[in-house]
Amino acid sequence: MPNTAQIFSSPAKLNLFLEVKGRRDDGFHELETVMVRTNFCDQIQVSVDSHSDVRLTVTGDPELAVRVPTDESNLILRAATAFRNATGLDTGWDIQLAKLIPMEAGLAGGSSNAATILLALNQLASRPLMKNQLHELAASLGSDINFFVEDCEAAVCTGRGEQVASFSPAATFYFVVARPAAGNATPAVFGQLQPMSDRVSSENVVAALKAGSFGQLENSIFNRLTEPASQLNAEMADLLLQMESVCGRPAAMSGSGSTCFVCCKNQADADAMLCKVQVLNPAFAMVVRTA
Ligand code: C5P
Repeated sequence: MPNTAQIFSSPAKLNLFLEVKGRRDDGFHELETVMVRTNFCDQIQVSVDSHSDVRLTVTGDPELAVRVPTDESNLILRAATAFRNATGLDTGWDIQLAKLIPMEAGLAGGSSNAATILLALNQLASRPLMKNQLHELAASLGSDINFFVEDCEAAVCTGRGEQVASFSPAATFYFVVARPAAGNATPAVFGQLQPMSDRVSSENVVAALKAGSFGQLENSIFNRLTEPASQLNAEMADLLLQMESVCGRPAAMSGSGSTCFVCCKNQADADAMLCKVQVLNPAFAMVVRTA
Protein backbone atom coordinates (compact mmCIF):
# COMPACT_ATOMS: atom_id res chain seq x y z
CA MET A 1 0.00 0.00 0.00
CA PRO A 2 1.46 3.43 -0.89
CA ASN A 3 2.58 5.69 1.97
CA THR A 4 -0.05 8.40 1.57
CA ALA A 5 -1.41 11.11 3.83
CA GLN A 6 -4.89 12.31 3.13
CA ILE A 7 -7.22 14.73 4.88
CA PHE A 8 -10.89 13.88 5.36
CA SER A 9 -13.62 16.24 6.58
CA SER A 10 -15.75 14.91 9.43
CA PRO A 11 -18.99 16.93 9.52
CA ALA A 12 -21.33 17.78 12.37
CA LYS A 13 -25.04 17.01 12.04
CA LEU A 14 -28.11 18.82 13.24
CA ASN A 15 -31.35 17.09 14.22
CA LEU A 16 -34.15 19.23 12.80
CA PHE A 17 -36.70 16.78 14.17
CA LEU A 18 -36.48 14.08 16.83
CA GLU A 19 -39.37 12.00 18.17
CA VAL A 20 -38.96 9.11 20.59
CA LYS A 21 -41.37 6.34 19.70
CA GLY A 22 -40.74 4.12 22.71
CA ARG A 23 -38.22 2.34 24.91
CA ARG A 24 -36.82 -0.93 23.58
CA ASP A 25 -35.98 -4.11 25.43
CA ASP A 26 -32.25 -3.51 24.78
CA GLY A 27 -32.42 -0.22 26.73
CA PHE A 28 -32.20 1.96 23.61
CA HIS A 29 -35.08 4.09 22.36
CA GLU A 30 -36.91 3.77 19.08
CA LEU A 31 -36.43 7.06 17.22
CA GLU A 32 -37.71 8.99 14.25
CA THR A 33 -35.27 11.77 13.53
CA VAL A 34 -34.38 14.04 10.63
CA MET A 35 -30.69 14.76 10.41
CA VAL A 36 -28.85 17.14 8.10
CA ARG A 37 -25.13 17.21 7.45
CA THR A 38 -23.50 20.61 8.00
CA ASN A 39 -20.41 22.40 6.73
CA PHE A 40 -18.98 22.54 10.29
CA CYS A 41 -16.28 19.87 10.36
CA ASP A 42 -13.40 18.31 12.23
CA GLN A 43 -10.49 17.43 9.96
CA ILE A 44 -8.87 14.01 10.10
CA GLN A 45 -5.54 13.25 8.47
CA VAL A 46 -4.83 9.60 7.85
CA SER A 47 -1.52 8.18 6.70
CA VAL A 48 -0.34 4.65 6.16
CA ASP A 49 2.79 3.85 8.14
CA SER A 50 5.29 1.05 8.35
CA HIS A 51 4.34 0.10 11.93
CA SER A 52 1.28 -2.08 12.42
CA ASP A 53 -0.51 -0.04 15.10
CA VAL A 54 -3.25 2.51 14.90
CA ARG A 55 -1.92 5.75 16.40
CA LEU A 56 -4.06 8.75 17.22
CA THR A 57 -3.00 12.30 17.98
CA VAL A 58 -5.43 15.12 18.66
CA THR A 59 -4.99 18.82 17.81
CA GLY A 60 -7.51 21.55 16.95
CA ASP A 61 -9.25 23.65 19.60
CA PRO A 62 -6.95 23.14 22.63
CA GLU A 63 -9.84 23.13 25.13
CA LEU A 64 -11.58 20.37 23.18
CA ALA A 65 -8.44 18.44 22.24
CA VAL A 66 -7.42 17.80 25.86
CA ARG A 67 -10.84 16.26 26.54
CA VAL A 68 -10.71 13.74 23.68
CA PRO A 69 -9.80 10.31 25.12
CA THR A 70 -7.00 8.56 23.27
CA ASP A 71 -7.55 5.11 24.83
CA GLU A 72 -9.81 2.31 23.54
CA SER A 73 -12.90 4.30 24.50
CA ASN A 74 -12.17 6.64 21.57
CA LEU A 75 -14.61 5.97 18.73
CA ILE A 76 -11.94 6.60 16.09
CA LEU A 77 -9.75 3.86 17.52
CA ARG A 78 -12.74 1.55 17.96
CA ALA A 79 -13.74 2.16 14.33
CA ALA A 80 -10.20 1.49 13.10
CA THR A 81 -10.04 -1.73 15.14
CA ALA A 82 -13.43 -2.84 13.82
CA PHE A 83 -12.22 -2.14 10.27
CA ARG A 84 -9.02 -4.14 10.80
CA ASN A 85 -10.93 -7.06 12.32
CA ALA A 86 -13.45 -7.08 9.48
CA THR A 87 -10.82 -6.93 6.73
CA GLY A 88 -7.95 -8.84 8.33
CA LEU A 89 -5.64 -5.98 7.31
CA ASP A 90 -2.85 -5.19 9.77
CA THR A 91 -1.80 -1.96 8.08
CA GLY A 92 -0.44 0.70 10.44
CA TRP A 93 -2.35 3.97 10.44
CA ASP A 94 -1.35 7.34 11.83
CA ILE A 95 -4.47 9.34 12.50
CA GLN A 96 -4.43 13.03 13.38
CA LEU A 97 -7.71 14.52 14.51
CA ALA A 98 -8.11 18.31 14.40
CA LYS A 99 -11.02 18.69 16.85
CA LEU A 100 -13.35 21.65 16.41
CA ILE A 101 -16.82 20.17 16.99
CA PRO A 102 -17.69 20.42 20.70
CA MET A 103 -18.44 17.27 22.70
CA GLU A 104 -21.75 16.53 24.45
CA ALA A 105 -23.27 19.00 22.05
CA GLY A 106 -25.81 16.95 20.09
CA LEU A 107 -23.74 17.46 16.93
CA ALA A 108 -22.45 13.86 16.79
CA GLY A 109 -18.82 14.89 16.42
CA GLY A 110 -17.52 11.58 17.81
CA SER A 111 -19.90 9.52 15.68
CA SER A 112 -18.91 11.51 12.62
CA ASN A 113 -15.22 10.93 13.38
CA ALA A 114 -15.85 7.17 13.58
CA ALA A 115 -17.75 7.12 10.28
CA THR A 116 -15.08 9.25 8.59
CA ILE A 117 -12.42 6.76 9.69
CA LEU A 118 -14.43 3.79 8.35
CA LEU A 119 -14.84 5.55 4.99
CA ALA A 120 -11.24 6.80 4.94
CA LEU A 121 -9.60 3.46 5.77
CA ASN A 122 -11.82 1.70 3.26
CA GLN A 123 -10.84 4.20 0.57
CA LEU A 124 -7.11 4.06 1.40
CA ALA A 125 -7.21 0.23 1.42
CA SER A 126 -8.82 0.20 -2.07
CA ARG A 127 -12.35 -0.53 -0.81
CA PRO A 128 -12.23 -4.06 0.65
CA LEU A 129 -15.65 -3.50 2.28
CA MET A 130 -18.96 -2.83 0.57
CA LYS A 131 -21.27 -0.07 1.81
CA ASN A 132 -23.54 -2.55 3.62
CA GLN A 133 -20.52 -3.97 5.50
CA LEU A 134 -19.48 -0.47 6.54
CA HIS A 135 -23.05 0.09 7.77
CA GLU A 136 -22.85 -3.12 9.84
CA LEU A 137 -19.63 -1.92 11.48
CA ALA A 138 -21.14 1.53 12.05
CA ALA A 139 -24.25 0.10 13.75
CA SER A 140 -22.06 -2.03 16.03
CA LEU A 141 -20.21 1.10 17.20
CA GLY A 142 -23.13 3.49 17.88
CA SER A 143 -26.49 4.85 16.78
CA ASP A 144 -25.53 8.02 14.85
CA ILE A 145 -22.63 6.64 12.82
CA ASN A 146 -24.68 5.19 9.96
CA PHE A 147 -25.96 8.62 8.96
CA PHE A 148 -22.40 9.71 8.21
CA VAL A 149 -21.48 6.41 6.51
CA GLU A 150 -24.44 7.00 4.17
CA ASP A 151 -22.65 10.24 3.22
CA CYS A 152 -25.84 12.14 2.46
CA GLU A 153 -27.07 15.69 2.94
CA ALA A 154 -30.25 14.73 4.82
CA ALA A 155 -32.02 11.62 6.05
CA VAL A 156 -34.87 10.29 8.13
CA CYS A 157 -33.24 7.94 10.63
CA THR A 158 -35.26 5.31 12.48
CA GLY A 159 -34.63 2.29 14.70
CA ARG A 160 -31.95 3.30 17.21
CA GLY A 161 -31.07 5.96 14.63
CA GLU A 162 -29.01 3.55 12.55
CA GLN A 163 -31.58 2.95 9.79
CA VAL A 164 -30.96 5.75 7.32
CA ALA A 165 -33.33 6.81 4.51
CA SER A 166 -31.58 9.62 2.70
CA PHE A 167 -33.16 12.38 0.63
CA SER A 168 -32.03 15.63 -0.99
CA PRO A 169 -33.17 19.02 0.32
CA ALA A 170 -34.22 21.37 -2.49
CA ALA A 171 -32.10 24.25 -1.18
CA THR A 172 -29.25 25.11 1.15
CA PHE A 173 -30.56 25.82 4.67
CA TYR A 174 -28.79 28.10 7.15
CA PHE A 175 -28.82 27.95 10.94
CA VAL A 176 -27.36 29.79 13.88
CA VAL A 177 -26.19 27.22 16.42
CA ALA A 178 -25.26 28.10 19.99
CA ARG A 179 -24.62 26.25 23.20
CA PRO A 180 -23.92 26.99 26.86
CA ALA A 181 -20.71 25.92 28.57
CA ALA A 182 -22.21 22.70 29.95
CA GLY A 183 -22.80 19.77 27.63
CA ASN A 184 -25.47 17.08 27.96
CA ALA A 185 -24.70 13.39 28.50
CA THR A 186 -26.98 11.48 26.09
CA PRO A 187 -27.78 8.53 28.44
CA ALA A 188 -28.78 10.98 31.21
CA VAL A 189 -31.12 12.85 28.87
CA PHE A 190 -32.83 9.66 27.69
CA GLY A 191 -33.01 8.54 31.33
CA GLN A 192 -34.95 11.68 32.25
CA LEU A 193 -37.57 11.16 29.51
CA GLN A 194 -41.14 10.69 30.81
CA PRO A 195 -43.63 8.38 29.08
CA MET A 196 -45.61 10.31 26.46
CA SER A 197 -49.03 9.81 24.93
CA ASP A 198 -48.93 11.98 21.80
CA ARG A 199 -46.51 11.50 18.89
CA VAL A 200 -45.30 13.99 16.31
CA SER A 201 -44.41 12.96 12.74
CA SER A 202 -41.35 14.09 10.80
CA GLU A 203 -43.35 14.58 7.59
CA ASN A 204 -43.62 18.39 7.84
CA VAL A 205 -39.87 18.80 8.33
CA VAL A 206 -39.12 16.45 5.44
CA ALA A 207 -41.65 18.26 3.23
CA ALA A 208 -40.11 21.64 4.16
CA LEU A 209 -36.61 20.45 3.25
CA LYS A 210 -37.81 18.88 0.00
CA ALA A 211 -39.68 22.08 -0.88
CA GLY A 212 -36.75 24.31 0.08
CA SER A 213 -39.13 26.22 2.39
CA PHE A 214 -37.49 28.09 5.27
CA GLY A 215 -40.90 29.24 6.59
CA GLN A 216 -42.32 25.73 6.69
CA LEU A 217 -39.12 24.41 8.29
CA GLU A 218 -38.93 26.91 11.14
CA ASN A 219 -42.50 26.10 12.13
CA SER A 220 -41.90 22.33 12.08
CA ILE A 221 -38.63 21.87 14.00
CA PHE A 222 -39.22 19.65 17.03
CA ASN A 223 -37.23 17.65 19.55
CA ARG A 224 -38.87 15.34 22.12
CA LEU A 225 -35.69 15.37 24.23
CA THR A 226 -35.89 19.13 24.87
CA GLU A 227 -37.86 18.83 28.09
CA PRO A 228 -35.71 16.16 29.80
CA ALA A 229 -32.53 17.93 28.64
CA SER A 230 -33.83 21.26 29.97
CA GLN A 231 -34.43 19.67 33.36
CA LEU A 232 -30.78 18.63 33.47
CA ASN A 233 -29.30 21.80 31.99
CA ALA A 234 -31.01 24.99 33.18
CA GLU A 235 -28.50 27.19 31.36
CA MET A 236 -29.45 25.51 28.09
CA ALA A 237 -33.16 25.90 28.81
CA ASP A 238 -32.57 29.65 29.32
CA LEU A 239 -30.50 29.93 26.16
CA LEU A 240 -33.27 28.26 24.15
CA LEU A 241 -35.86 30.75 25.41
CA GLN A 242 -33.55 33.72 24.94
CA MET A 243 -32.69 32.69 21.38
CA GLU A 244 -36.40 32.56 20.57
CA SER A 245 -36.85 35.97 22.13
CA VAL A 246 -33.94 37.82 20.45
CA CYS A 247 -34.41 36.11 17.06
CA GLY A 248 -38.22 36.29 17.12
CA ARG A 249 -38.61 32.75 15.82
CA PRO A 250 -38.72 29.16 17.10
CA ALA A 251 -35.50 27.65 18.45
CA ALA A 252 -34.85 23.94 18.93
CA MET A 253 -32.24 21.63 20.41
CA SER A 254 -30.11 19.25 18.31
CA GLY A 255 -29.94 15.60 19.39
CA SER A 256 -29.73 15.37 23.16
CA GLY A 257 -28.25 18.91 23.30
CA SER A 258 -26.78 21.09 24.50
CA THR A 259 -26.59 22.83 21.09
CA CYS A 260 -29.65 24.92 20.24
CA PHE A 261 -30.41 26.48 16.84
CA VAL A 262 -32.68 28.77 14.90
CA CYS A 263 -33.43 28.40 11.17
CA CYS A 264 -32.37 31.28 8.93
CA LYS A 265 -33.56 32.45 5.48
CA ASN A 266 -30.12 32.84 3.92
CA GLN A 267 -26.53 33.72 4.79
CA ALA A 268 -27.34 37.42 5.41
CA ASP A 269 -30.23 36.56 7.72
CA ALA A 270 -27.98 34.04 9.51
CA ASP A 271 -25.26 36.67 10.00
CA ALA A 272 -27.85 39.05 11.48
CA MET A 273 -29.23 36.35 13.79
CA LEU A 274 -25.72 35.40 14.91
CA CYS A 275 -25.16 39.00 16.08
CA LYS A 276 -28.37 38.81 18.14
CA VAL A 277 -27.41 35.44 19.64
CA GLN A 278 -23.86 36.58 20.47
CA VAL A 279 -25.35 39.28 22.72
CA LEU A 280 -26.56 36.39 24.90
CA ASN A 281 -22.90 35.47 25.43
CA PRO A 282 -23.16 31.71 24.82
CA ALA A 283 -20.04 29.55 25.19
CA PHE A 284 -20.17 28.82 21.47
CA ALA A 285 -22.13 30.31 18.54
CA MET A 286 -21.73 30.17 14.78
CA VAL A 287 -23.55 30.00 11.45
CA VAL A 288 -23.73 26.59 9.80
CA ARG A 289 -25.44 25.48 6.60
CA THR A 290 -26.52 22.18 5.12
CA ALA A 291 -23.77 20.63 3.03
O1 C5P B 1 -25.54 4.63 20.38
P1 C5P B 1 -24.90 5.74 21.12
O2 C5P B 1 -23.57 5.37 21.70
O3 C5P B 1 -24.87 7.03 20.37
O4 C5P B 1 -25.87 6.00 22.35
C1 C5P B 1 -25.45 6.62 23.53
C2 C5P B 1 -26.51 6.41 24.59
O5 C5P B 1 -27.69 7.13 24.28
C3 C5P B 1 -26.96 4.97 24.74
O6 C5P B 1 -26.14 4.26 25.62
C4 C5P B 1 -28.36 5.14 25.29
O7 C5P B 1 -28.32 5.42 26.67
C5 C5P B 1 -28.85 6.39 24.61
N1 C5P B 1 -29.61 6.11 23.37
C6 C5P B 1 -30.90 5.61 23.47
N2 C5P B 1 -31.61 5.35 22.33
C7 C5P B 1 -31.09 5.62 21.12
C8 C5P B 1 -29.78 6.14 21.00
C9 C5P B 1 -29.07 6.36 22.15
O8 C5P B 1 -31.41 5.36 24.57
N3 C5P B 1 -31.81 5.37 20.02
